[in-house]
Amino acid sequence: MLTLSNLHVSYDGSRILRDVSLEVPPGKVVCLMGRNGVGKTTTLKAITGLVRLDSGSIHLDGHPLESLRPDARARLGLGYVPQGRDIFPNLTVMENLRIGAIAQSRKLNGELDRVFQLFPVLREMTQRKGGVLSGGQQQQLAIGRALLTNPKVLLLDEPTEGIQPNIIDQIGETIKTLRDEGLGRSTPHDDPAREVADAIRAIRAEGRIGILLVEQYLDFCIDVGDRFYAMDRGAVVAQGPIRELTDEIVKKHLTV
Ligand SMILES: Nc1ncnc2c1ncn2[C@@H]1O[C@H](COP(=O)(O)OP(=O)(O)O)[C@@H](O)[C@H]1O
Ligand SMILES: [Mg+2]
Repeated sequence: MLTLSNLHVSYDGSRILRDVSLEVPPGKVVCLMGRNGVGKTTTLKAITGLVRLDSGSIHLDGHPLESLRPDARARLGLGYVPQGRDIFPNLTVMENLRIGAIAQSRKLNGELDRVFQLFPVLREMTQRKGGVLSGGQQQQLAIGRALLTNPKVLLLDEPTEGIQPNIIDQIGETIKTLRDEGLGRSTPHDDPAREVADAIRAIRAEGRIGILLVEQYLDFCIDVGDRFYAMDRGAVVAQGPIRELTDEIVKKHLTV
């Protein structure tokens, strides 16, 4: 269980996080939601140790983390997939996976099997360059690499960013479908975020790892989340089981 208690964080003297408290139990997907600039990424950086706390405490399975360096926190069981898919486009899928373990000078042994079981598509692509994978597959690769450090809690920062369906892509798809299949026929759109949702569900089904999912894509959170925290201007303004995420909360704090 990851527990944040009353975190306060500032950049250059201006307060960014105000009294943030939240919990991530094992086997649960906890969504941290909010508009751009409210402090979601800063919360993850506070957990990993990339930004310093003014005050507050962070515990992982009872161990206090706040005085530890980022590498020590990672070894205690924090896996972090930062915003933007930071895979190496010119390395193969297998090389991308191994990099995570090399960084910690650990052998992979059975752990690669677990990743391939969770994300079967990666097994088929071990020798492909990371850069040729779809956005969703790249995200699976980034998550798979984080899993190889054997985390207790996984921190995911906007894993659907840049792979959500947008109008331009959909028009492109429609034109392609018409061209490939003849006028008048169309196929349902594949949800490009499906691979990311599948990855999160697979990890959740193991029941071992808690996931703190920073996400602005509302339907995605409702789809994969167990609980939510809504942030506004650096503070948690609402929380609860995902089914209690009301239209009122969405309108007031989450929509642009
Ligand atoms: N390194 C930094 N130095 C100063 N201000 C920052 C820095 N990083 C983020 N901020 C500011 O902190 C606020 C929260 O940012 P961030 O946590 O990235 O928001 P979110 O992830 O919710 O979009 C924003 O106002 C942002 O401009
Ligand atoms: Mg962010």
